[in-house]
Amino acid sequence: MRRKIAAGNWKMNGLREALREVEGLHSANPNPDCEVIICPPATLIRSMVKTCDTMNINVGGQDCHENSSGAHTGDISAEMLADTGATHAILGHSERRDAYGESSTLVRAKTRAAWNAGLVAIVCVGETLEEREAANTLDIVGGQLAGSIPDAATAENLIVAYEPVWAIGTGKTPTLNDIGEVHDFIRMRLERRFGEGVGRSVRILYGGSMKPENAADIAAVSNVDGGLVGGASLKAPDFSRIVAAL
Ligand code: PGA
Repeated sequence: MRRKIAAGNWKMNGLREALREVEGLHSANPNPDCEVIICPPATLIRSMVKTCDTMNINVGGQDCHENSSGAHTGDISAEMLADTGATHAILGHSERRDAYGESSTLVRAKTRAAWNAGLVAIVCVGETLEEREAANTLDIVGGQLAGSIPDAATAENLIVAYEPVWAIGTGKTPTLNDIGEVHDFIRMRLERRFGEGVGRSVRILYGGSMKPENAADIAAVSNVDGGLVGGASLKAPDFSRIVAAL
């Protein structure tokens, strides 16, 4: 039985007053059986860790550098994330692959760095609209999975997030059948590469315009183990309803 996960990706949103949203989430905590992870901007991580201390909510970063320290102006290492009390790191989000040219090789190095620091890596994969229309979705997702995940994956150190790029922030989602097809494919690839035990236990999240209205239907699809939620994670009432639905 894989425990469901609701992970909130705040992206570059949130000033200190946004911490109150998390307090709101707690008072409305609808589902203690669902693991909740919030990934705020780096400036809020430490405060968020303190806010979430007694709330059974984990906190993650949205990226890390592949090295543990050094002359990398503006970057944050996995050790630094762990030092704040963060437990997870989103890696290879399509916005970083696109805006910063992050390759799967780089994402793999970052994932290794996250593991070395004791963090759980949430590795993102997903096709663009052109790739979907050219019927290349599974090739793209398969290639990103193979390239971005190091060999030492376990059910404890890895979460995979399938996020079709064209569904992120657009209000569009794939059909439930299409989501199921990709999640089944990811499961098959994980089992083939890491063996049945690990492959069956790694959680696979769906991301891209997940909302309170569609979360229950998406979470009922085979091999969907929760959601990576952007926009709808910014308001406590919406995110609470998603947590409840999952
Ligand atoms: P969205 O973003 O829920 O706003 O579509 C999801 C993500 O990018 O992780």
